[in-house]
Amino acid sequence: MYTFYWQKFILPFWPKVVIALASFLMASVAGLAAPIIIKLLIDNVLADGDLYQLHFITAGIVVLYLLRGIFSYVYGYLMAKVGNRLIERMRQEMFVKLQSKDYAYFVNNQTGEVISLFSNDLTLIQQAVSVSIPEFFIETLNVLAILSIMIYFDWQLSLVTFATLPFIFLVVGYFNKKTAKIGMLMEDSLAKVASFLHQTLLSATIVKSYSREEYEYRKFSQRIHQAAEEFLKMQRLNAVLVPLVEFLAAIGLTVIIWFGGREVIDGELTIGGMFAFLVYIINVPAPMRKIAQAATSLRMGTVAWERIQQFESQPRTIFDGGMEAPKGHGLVEFRDVSFCYSQNTGILHHINLCARPGEIIAIVGPSGAGKSSVANLLLRLYDPTSGGIYVDGVDIRELNLASHRKRIGFIQQEPILFHGTVRENIRYGFPGASDAKVEWAARMADAHDFILALPNGYETPVGELGGLLSGGQRQRIAIARALILEPAILLLDEPTAALDSQSERQVMESIRRASGGRTTFIITHRLSTLMASDRVVYLANGCIVETGTHGELLQRGGLYAKAVALEALGA
Ligand SMILES: Nc1ncnc2c1ncn2[C@@H]1O[C@H](COP(=O)(O)OP(=O)(O)O)[C@@H](O)[C@H]1O
Ligand SMILES: [Mg+2]
Repeated sequence: MYTFYWQKFILPFWPKVVIALASFLMASVAGLAAPIIIKLLIDNVLADGDLYQLHFITAGIVVLYLLRGIFSYVYGYLMAKVGNRLIERMRQEMFVKLQSKDYAYFVNNQTGEVISLFSNDLTLIQQAVSVSIPEFFIETLNVLAILSIMIYFDWQLSLVTFATLPFIFLVVGYFNKKTAKIGMLMEDSLAKVASFLHQTLLSATIVKSYSREEYEYRKFSQRIHQAAEEFLKMQRLNAVLVPLVEFLAAIGLTVIIWFGGREVIDGELTIGGMFAFLVYIINVPAPMRKIAQAATSLRMGTVAWERIQQFESQPRTIFDGGMEAPKGHGLVEFRDVSFCYSQNTGILHHINLCARPGEIIAIVGPSGAGKSSVANLLLRLYDPTSGGIYVDGVDIRELNLASHRKRIGFIQQEPILFHGTVRENIRYGFPGASDAKVEWAARMADAHDFILALPNGYETPVGELGGLLSGGQRQRIAIARALILEPAILLLDEPTAALDSQSERQVMESIRRASGGRTTFIITHRLSTLMASDRVVYLANGCIVETGTHGELLQRGGLYAKAVALEALGA
């Protein structure tokens, strides 16, 4: 946390930070000087009845507090400015890191937690860095200064005063520990509420279709209730703490007044001196409280910082090869590829497969056979455990990731469209594409006609995740989006599995048109697609069991033929 503080906060912004800290210090000094002036006022001016000096000193007090106000403002403003800049930078850096994460990271982590890193944790850090750390140090200085001045004034009275302090410290310390613990619980509960809301938003259709609003409401209420309970505990603690501390302080003050009063009567202390002394004592609790709060906030900031460190330090496993992908026709070879995800064993075994440009390869097999894993490997979302994948003769691990992925038009079962217009979505991978190019891609994907029939044609918004379009329309826009980059390879993972038969026919038609001249892999269990392919690869338990044309495999009468006969082609 402190190296971070130094490197990310002080070094980059040092002029502002230095001015801010200096202002804070000046404000404190101004605050410290006030009681001394009051002492002068009472002991010298009032006692002597010097009216001229009275004007002078009261004006001085006004100026002093004015200065204090100005310095406080400069400090507060500059720190807020630097804090905001820091968090803005950190958010940007974290977003870059997030985007460079392996695909596995997104599969294995909960969205809500990642979001909370970007919101809650960064806010905690901002608080710690731009408020708590400076306050901690300067208020500590402040308290030390006050104590020294008090001792200088009257060491005996100071001793009496200090004797009353430990009680207050004990009580405050005890409460602080408790509130910190509850604070953590509260953070946790709030994160859970956020995560839950996020899920509910995503699954609105499911909740509605199953009429589970009541149930979701109850779950939500439970979580909210827990958070509220913890919040209440916190408030109750505070409600006890404040009057308790005030009571203890009042007793302490009474003792001090009694002792100090005796000194005044004995002539050991002036009236002004005692007054100033009391003003200092009254000024102790506020910085003490700030120090305690700063310490708590620092602890929370440190925990948040550790979480962010952990997020940033998780190692990548997919590395950029650096070599620009050669302009080839898209000859794809799987050479003895075996693979497993980190947490399990043996997903794919010794896959050998060669797909030539223009060929349509259908991959079929039971659910869980490893078909999507083949697609993940070709996209380099993961790397094989052994063996290698070669495109136009080059191992894809040697290639620049972006240039490799750009050659592959990838279509999923449920296409993800972004909030925006049809045109923006088609252009997503090629922001500089001309309108003519967008239209070309849409025609290739058989989408042009229905797009023109939309209320605003290409400028029609698709809605959140494409919700304003039908499944078949979304899929054809996704195909256009893939085609606009003129990829040498098309990779389709169950592209029609979620569609009705009419949309399926339309989408298949656009796939057939799109696949002309490209190496096409299509993961499917649709018989019509299998029949239209050049070669069928039957995958079971991570092995290629049979391969050949649909007709050949039927004749062979093996597993594939049985699956076709039973209409059990998986998925
Ligand atoms: N991201 C992942 N992490 C761990 N295991 C996974 C992951 N994705 C899939 N699997 C496992 O790998 C196996 C093959 O999955 P998959 O390739 O998706 O099969 P298919 O697409 O043929 O249905 C399954 O047993 C599945 O549980
Ligand atoms: Mg799959």
